[in-house]
Amino acid sequence: MYEQVSHSLLNRILDQLNPEIRKRDLRYFYTRLGANFYAIHSLYKLLYGHREDFEAQMVRLVEVMARNYVERRKSLKRLDIEREARSDWFLDQRWVGMALYANAFADGLSGVETRLPYLQELGVNMVHVMPVLKCPPGASDGGYAVSDFRDVDERAGTLEEIRQLGRSMRKRDMLLTLDVVVNHTSDQHEWARKAQAGDPVYQDYYYVFEDRDTPDLYEQSMPEVFPETAPGNFTWDEAMGKWVMTVFNDYQWDLNYRNPAVFSEMLDILLFWANRGADILRLDAVAFLWKKIGTQSQNEREAHILLQLFKDCCQVTAPGVLFIAEAIVAPVEIIKYFGEDAVIAKECEIAYNATLMALLWDGVATRNAKLLSQGIKSLPAKLDGATWLNYVRCHDDIGLGFDDADIARAGYDPKTHRRFLVDWFTGRFDDSPARGRPFGENEKTGDARISGSLASLAGLEAAMVSGDDDEIARRIRLVVTLHGIVMAFGGIPLLYYGDEIGTLNDYDYLDDTSKQGDSRWIHRPQMDWDKAEKRVQHGSVEQRIFDGLKQLIAVRQSTRAFADHNNRELVDTDNPHLFAFWRSHRRDLDDRVLVVANFDAESQDFDLSALGSRGRFGQAPMQDLLGGRVTPTEAGTIKVPGFGLNWLSWRR
Ligand code: GLC
Ligand code: GLC
Repeated sequence: MYEQVSHSLLNRILDQLNPEIRKRDLRYFYTRLGANFYAIHSLYKLLYGHREDFEAQMVRLVEVMARNYVERRKSLKRLDIEREARSDWFLDQRWVGMALYANAFADGLSGVETRLPYLQELGVNMVHVMPVLKCPPGASDGGYAVSDFRDVDERAGTLEEIRQLGRSMRKRDMLLTLDVVVNHTSDQHEWARKAQAGDPVYQDYYYVFEDRDTPDLYEQSMPEVFPETAPGNFTWDEAMGKWVMTVFNDYQWDLNYRNPAVFSEMLDILLFWANRGADILRLDAVAFLWKKIGTQSQNEREAHILLQLFKDCCQVTAPGVLFIAEAIVAPVEIIKYFGEDAVIAKECEIAYNATLMALLWDGVATRNAKLLSQGIKSLPAKLDGATWLNYVRCHDDIGLGFDDADIARAGYDPKTHRRFLVDWFTGRFDDSPARGRPFGENEKTGDARISGSLASLAGLEAAMVSGDDDEIARRIRLVVTLHGIVMAFGGIPLLYYGDEIGTLNDYDYLDDTSKQGDSRWIHRPQMDWDKAEKRVQHGSVEQRIFDGLKQLIAVRQSTRAFADHNNRELVDTDNPHLFAFWRSHRRDLDDRVLVVANFDAESQDFDLSALGSRGRFGQAPMQDLLGGRVTPTEAGTIKVPGFGLNWLSWRR
C-alpha cells in the first residue's frame, strides 16, 4: 500500500543507510522493502511510536534487514525467489518431519549428518534439530537457556558443522528447522552479565525492578509455568541487587520487547540463522512475548504485533524462510498465531497443533473419540496459506489444553475429567497400561501435565513387561494408528525421534541431579541404535512400528488429498470409539480419502450410512490404501480392527 508518511520516512531512512550497504546490489531488497514498508512502519509505530528516538530505531531496523540481505548467499537468494513464486509449497503432502536432539539422536551435528540416510529410509524430509546453541552446563532447560545466539554449543558441534549439515540436507531435498528462543536468554548471556554488572542499557533488555512492588502486581494475574521447580515469575539477582522477570526457570531471563533495541537484536539473530541455511525457524514460547500488569501475560495483542513485524521484516531479507509458532495455548488462541483476517500467514506459516495432540491422548485414555471429535469441531478454521504441525509426542510434557466447554459437551465434568486423565497416564488409576509421570503439578490450582514416551504412554511398556503377545500387537497398532491420524489430518506431521522404533521411558534422568526435578527428561533419551538395528528383524517390535510408519509416510506422500488445503471434513459416526474424517483433493469426489481410526481395543463396526449421500460411489470398489480391498457387509458396515486405522479410497 502506498502511503505518503511511510513513503517519505522510507526515503529518509534509505538516505541514512550505511554507504557500504548502499553500494551493493539491493534490487530485490528494495522491491520487497517497498512492498512491506507500510506494514512495518505501522506496526512498529504501534509499539514504539511514542519514543523520541523512533526514527533512529527504524534506521537501525532497516540496516539489520539490509546488512543480512547483503550477507545472504546467492543460492539462498535463488531459493527465496523460487519459493516466492510457489508460496504454497509447504502445504504439500510430501513433507514429513522429525524433531531430534543432535546429542541424543546422534553424536552431535556431524553425527546427525551421518544418520540422514536412516531418516530418508523412513521417509522423513524435514528435520527439526532441537536447540544447539551455547548453553551453560546444567542450567540449560534442554537447550532453551541460550548464552550465545550466534554460536553452537561445543557439546553439539560447530557453526561449520551446521552449515555442512544444511548443505547435505539440501542435496537430499530435506528441510532444516532450527530454534530461535525469542522470549528469553540464559542468565549467562552477555546481555544478562552486563545487566548484572550494573549497565542500565542492558538492564533495559530485561524486566528488571528495584523492589517487589511491580513484580507483585504482575504476579497477581500471571500463572506459573514450572510451579514445582521454578515457582513465581521473578528472581532476585544478587549481583544486580534487583528483581528480574523469569517466567520459566530462574536462570531464564525474559526479554523486554518494550525496548526496540531488543527487537532489532532478535531480528538480527533470526536473519543470522536464516543465512546459515535454516529453511524453517521455530520460534519458541511466542505466547509469552509481551507482559502486561493485570493480564496473564500470554497471547497479548502486542505479542502478535511483534510476530507480524518479525514476519514482515524477514520477508524482506529472506522470504523463503518459514516460521513455526510454538504456542501451546487454548485452541481459539493458537489459531491467531497464523495472523488474523488474512489469507496467507501474517505471523507464522506453521503452528504446533497442541489441541489435536492433547485430544488424541484423551482418545487413548477414554478409548473413545467423543472429546476428540468435539474438540476438532470447535477448532476454528485456519487461513488458507498456513498449516499445522501435527504431532503425537514431542520433547515437552502433554498439557490438557482443550476447552472446558468441549469437555462438557462430550459429557464429562471438566475438573474430574482432567484429574482422570492425569491419573490414568501416571499409573494412579487401576488397570491403566500407561506408564507416564506427572509434570508441573500445581497444588494451588490443581493443574498437572504429563510426561512419558509415546510407547510407554500408549501401553507398550506394560505390554512388554507382561510378555503378552496379543497385547503387544494391540499396543503396536495403537502407536501406528496415532501416527496415522497425524499423517492424514492436514498439515506437516512431526515425529519425535525414537518413536519410530517404539522407544520406552528412560528412567536414567532420576540419577542426574540437574534433571531429576524435571520429568520431561523421561522422554529425552539417548537413541538406542542397537534397538534401531532390530527394525530389519522380521516380527520384532521395532520392525513392526518402523515399517508401519514407513508405509504411512509413503502412502501419505503419494496421496494428493493429504495436502493441506483446508480440505478436511469430519464425519459424525454413531460409534463413539471411531474418529472419522474425509480428506479430498480439490473437492474432487473421485480423489478423496476417508480416514477411520478406532480408539477401542476391540474391533468396531463403521456404518457407511454415516457418510450420507457422499458415501455413494457407484460400482467403484472400496480400497484401504494401507491394506487392500475392503468389502462392506450386507448391512453396509465395515469392521475396523481394535486400535486400527483405515485410509479408504474409492479411486477407480
Ligand atoms: C518451550 C520449549 C520448552 C522450554 C520452554 C522455555 O516451551 O519447548 O522445552 O522449556 O519453551 O524455553
Ligand atoms: C512452554 C510451553 C508449554 C510447556 C512448557 C514447559 O510453556 O508452551 O507447552 O508445557 O513450556 O514445557
